[in-house]
Formats: sequence, C-alpha cells, structure tokens
Amino acid sequence: MRRKLVPALFHLYQENKLPALFQVVGFSRDELSEEEFRESIRNMVKARVKSEDEQRINKFARFFRYQQGFFEEQQGYEALGSLLGRQDGEWRLCANKLFYIAASPQFYETIFRGLANSKLAEPCSPEEGWTRIIVEKPFGKDLKTAQKLDKLLGKLFQEEQIYRIDHYLGKETVQNILAFRFSNSFLNPAWNATGIERIHISLFEKRGIGERGKFYDGIGALRDVGQNHMLQLVALFCMENPGVFDADAVRENRASILKSLKILRSRAKIESMAKRAQYKGYTQEEGVEKNSKTETYFRIETALEHKNWKGVPIILESGKCLTENKVEVAVTFRHPTPCLCLGEEHYKNVLHYRIQPQEGIHISFWVKEPGDAMELQQKDFMFNYKDAFEGHAISDAYERLLFSVIRGDQTLFVSTQEVMAEWKFVDPIIRAWQKDASSLGIYKKNSMP
Ligand code: BG6
Repeated sequence: MRRKLVPALFHLYQENKLPALFQVVGFSRDELSEEEFRESIRNMVKARVKSEDEQRINKFARFFRYQQGFFEEQQGYEALGSLLGRQDGEWRLCANKLFYIAASPQFYETIFRGLANSKLAEPCSPEEGWTRIIVEKPFGKDLKTAQKLDKLLGKLFQEEQIYRIDHYLGKETVQNILAFRFSNSFLNPAWNATGIERIHISLFEKRGIGERGKFYDGIGALRDVGQNHMLQLVALFCMENPGVFDADAVRENRASILKSLKILRSRAKIESMAKRAQYKGYTQEEGVEKNSKTETYFRIETALEHKNWKGVPIILESGKCLTENKVEVAVTFRHPTPCLCLGEEHYKNVLHYRIQPQEGIHISFWVKEPGDAMELQQKDFMFNYKDAFEGHAISDAYERLLFSVIRGDQTLFVSTQEVMAEWKFVDPIIRAWQKDASSLGIYKKNSMP
C-alpha cells in the first residue's frame, strides 16, 4: 500500500482519472482513528511522490476512511458493510464496490469466506452498481491450492468480476510487446520456429529479499517471479495475433501458449533442464529458516508444444543478489541458409527487448566493414524509450492496473485458465526440487551462478 497503491491512486487523482464520487476504506486490525489513518496516507504520499502541493495532498487524504476489524471475525465485515451502506445513503445511490485484497495470501480463504458470509460481495441493487475484486499474487501455492481458492472465489464472483494481478502486465514496456510484434510486418514471417532459434528471458535483480524473509522463504524464486511474471512474458512473446485488442481474445491467446508449455516431468529431465541455487548468507536473513533449501536463483530450459514453436528452446533465468538489474527477453534468430558468411562462422541476429531498466529494443545485425576485404561487423539498431519519448513519464504499473479495474477492462489481468496452466508447469519442478536437496547450488552475492 505504501509503495505502490497510495502513490498510484495519488497519480490517478492528479490526472483527474478517479471518479467524482470516490472513497477508499482501509480495513485492518490496527486500532486507528480516521484522522490517524489519513495522516499515514499523507505521509505515504509525501514520501513517494514529488508534489509540493500540501493542499492537494490534504484533499486526497479526505478520500480515505477507516474500519478496524479482524479477517477472522464476522463483526468487522458487518461494520464495513454498515459504513459502505451509510456512504451509499449519503450519495443516494448504490455505489460500485471494488475489494482490493492486499493481504498475505494465507488470509485469502478467510477473507473470501468473510466477504461471502457478510454478503458484501453482492451489489446492493440488481440494477445499479457492480462489485469487483482484485487479488494479488501469489494465487495459491500450487495447482491444488489455486484450484481450491478459485472454487471459493467462483462462488462469490463471476470470472468477469475477478482481477488477478500480475503487475508485469501493467508495465509500459510489457504492454508494448503486442504493439511491437503485431504492428511491424517485417517481424511476422520470422516470428516462429522457422525464423527463431531460441528465446532467453532474464529477470535479474541486484537486491536480496529485503524484509520479506518469511514470505519469500515459503515460496522461493520460481514461485515468486517465474510462475507469474516470466511465464506471462513467454505468453506475450509467443502468442498468436488476437485479431482484436480485446480482453477475451488476448487472454485466450495468452492461455493457449501457457497450456502448450512443455512440462518437465521425469527426474532426469528436471535435473538437467532446471537448475537452482541460493545466495551465500541467505539463511542468515531475517525470517529465513536456518537450514532453508529455498532457491533464490533458477534457470529452466523448456519449449512449447505448439505448432509455431516446435523445438525452440525457451530459457527462463532469474535470481536475487546477482550482478545487475536487468529484465530482458533476448530473441536469437536463425542464421540465413545458405549463408553468405565467410568461413565457418554463422551470423545471427539477436533482438534484445529490454523491459527495465534502460527500457528499449536493440537488434544486432551484420554489415560489411569498409575496405577491400569481405569482413563483417556486428552493429545495433537501437530504440530507447527515454530518448524517443522525452518528456513522457512512464507511468507505474499499478496506476494502469487500478485504472483498468475501475473501467472494467480485464486485458491486463490473468485469467483462471492462465493461472492454472502456470501452476501445471511449475509444480513438478518444485516437487522434484523439494525431494532432492542436493539440487541446490550456492553462489556468492553479486555474482552469476
Ligand atoms: C514481485 C516479487 O512480484 O516482483 C519480487 O515478489 C520482485 O520479489 C518483483 O522483486 C519484481 O518486480 P519489479 O517490478 O521490481 O521488476
């Protein structure tokens, strides 16, 4: 809330994108007065947002109200219901209601039940007002728990009301993937197994696990960023043209790629194709088990069982405490046949799609070096967001995601089909790793395993 939601809401407010009648009700176990809650909101804005306008910040804080309650106790939900009812009365309408579950996933089930029992999830009138729900990742711990959660959620909300967040989908550069792929016709003929040799997705972070030791230790790197963000990148890079930029079409096409992921099943396959490691000193981090075997790095090689992508290796690599911050998809094209290259060397083009930082796209290509000899040199076509769109601030993923939910656009949210396909791919690898502690390598902080 401090890092992402409040700054995103403030930006939406600054850009006049919030509805005229708008209110946020905070719900937590802390005993806070409304004024104390608003004070904390003002401080969150001041800490994160460049705005000198004290008056504006005060006005923004007035959108916030507070209800104390415990997730496990019914009376909290009922008090929340009365508060929302009073607000509807003041506004003389049945307001749209959006529930944002920004809580630790262990509470999801309890919260869903609380919402159901208190009937908060039902709109106050059949003709007026919608209810929607935003659920943060991780959605479950594996396929089984995700299915259980989904069943419960399905009793309360229709799929059209459920917004499962994968914040990568809200990033500007991630949204650009479909625009880049489907608006540049020169890419089309080559964008398949005939033209592409391999796809390597990296999500490298210099930082460690910070203060999230307890949470992270229970899930590890693959479930933290692989099961969701990285597989979504696979889907976007490999999906077929949806024809229209419409939530159902895009989500359907993403899902069909995720369903085609080649699942590594045998122990031998997992041993050779799915490596994992932990940084030195991880077990001394706060909240981490002393003999923890949780991975902070992984490298998995897979492929798609899809007519367009047969036999193209897809490599997913990610870790904490690595040498650099880099989220990038490197697409290597096959060398031309017959190749006019000289000697043994085959020349390949590589497209580096940089999601962050230094957002942009680089494509390497080959040219003849000036002179008598037929020598080639590798050069780059380069596009950098910052240079190309000077003066355009790249808005934060959460801002775009919240705005999409308010408008009722699910394109940037993960469907149940996608979540289940992601777990089906990840589950056997995690299970194999859990059975075999010796599969865990060790690497030094600030190094590449
Ligand atoms: C989150 C993970 O989902 O994504 C974090 O829980 C990770 O561990 C983060 O650091 C990466 O997101 P971003 O937007 O910083 O690239």
